[in-house]
Amino acid sequence: MGEVDPAFIQNPEHRPKLEITKAEGIPLIDLSILKTPDTNYSPDPKALEGLVKEVGDACKEWGFFQIINHGVPQEKRQKIENASRKFFAQSTVEKRKVRRNEEKVMGYYDTEHTKNVRDWKEVFDFTLQVPTLIPASYDADDKEVAKWYNQWPEHPSELREACQEYAKEVEQLAFKLMELIALSLGLPENRFHSFFKDQTTFIRINHYPPCPSPHLALGVGRHKDAGALTILGQDDVGGLQVKRKSDGQWIWVEPNPDAYIINVGDIIQVWSNDAYESVEHRVMVNSERERFSIPFFFNPAHYADVKPLEELTNELNPAKYRPYNWGKFLATRKRSNFKKLDVENIQI
Ligand code: SIN
Ligand code: FE2
Repeated sequence: MGEVDPAFIQNPEHRPKLEITKAEGIPLIDLSILKTPDTNYSPDPKALEGLVKEVGDACKEWGFFQIINHGVPQEKRQKIENASRKFFAQSTVEKRKVRRNEEKVMGYYDTEHTKNVRDWKEVFDFTLQVPTLIPASYDADDKEVAKWYNQWPEHPSELREACQEYAKEVEQLAFKLMELIALSLGLPENRFHSFFKDQTTFIRINHYPPCPSPHLALGVGRHKDAGALTILGQDDVGGLQVKRKSDGQWIWVEPNPDAYIINVGDIIQVWSNDAYESVEHRVMVNSERERFSIPFFFNPAHYADVKPLEELTNELNPAKYRPYNWGKFLATRKRSNFKKLDVENIQI
């Protein structure tokens, strides 16, 4: 097999090492105490305190952790994975019938660049909730909001339902995780809930085909997630690597199809005024097996203004970021050909 098109080739310093070193991995956190056998159930306070500490430590030290016993039914995950396999197995012509375009930001695409190098992947994006309730006071260009519509393919016909059912389950998990994060920052557990009214959350289904040059290309180049929180399901192939904060090493995340990988995005970094930082990660590909992954990007409303929370700033720890509007941020990013507008750009 030949080598990949030059558009996919990473500069030498960003090429992955193919041998996987089993180093200390991201923390694994068991959420079983949150399972609610009945509506009046609440977890044992001591156990909850322990869990909150685990989450806080993981956010601080890694910006990433893996969860098990998360409450998302395995059959819902299986259903979306099976339907996705069928969708991506179709011809390019068929898939491009739901291609993302200037008018619709959701749908299929096979060309994306991260830091100007093309990613070895194809993608289907859909949003959870089409934002319709935009307050009159929000002066953003309505056209941008109107682009948040889903495009569903004709085949496989079950994809739409599988996506919608899956989204509902993961959304509940996302709220639970935000509660744990709020508690870990010393805030009331529902402190973040209102930010997610009219949310711009979306789910991405990634397909990474086998790549003839896995030593030169990446499935997704190094980046940080711009939203609040990411909940990623990866299959048993593996490929995700996280940049360890303590020494800057790229750490392989052991695939576990029963678990989810959680990471703090730029918005939590800003809300927490850097108590928790968004961490770089990337995706390796391989020459033998295709890989699927499904990240859920938990994002606030278009009209949300993102800024450090007042409770987490004071004279000794002043706000490190200027407020920015999430909808405008999203629109700017799209217009600039998906180049990331890093939180570094909005630091004070
Ligand atoms: C991403 O970070 O965009 C994708 C992660 C993955 O596929 O593992
Ligand atoms: Fe990411």
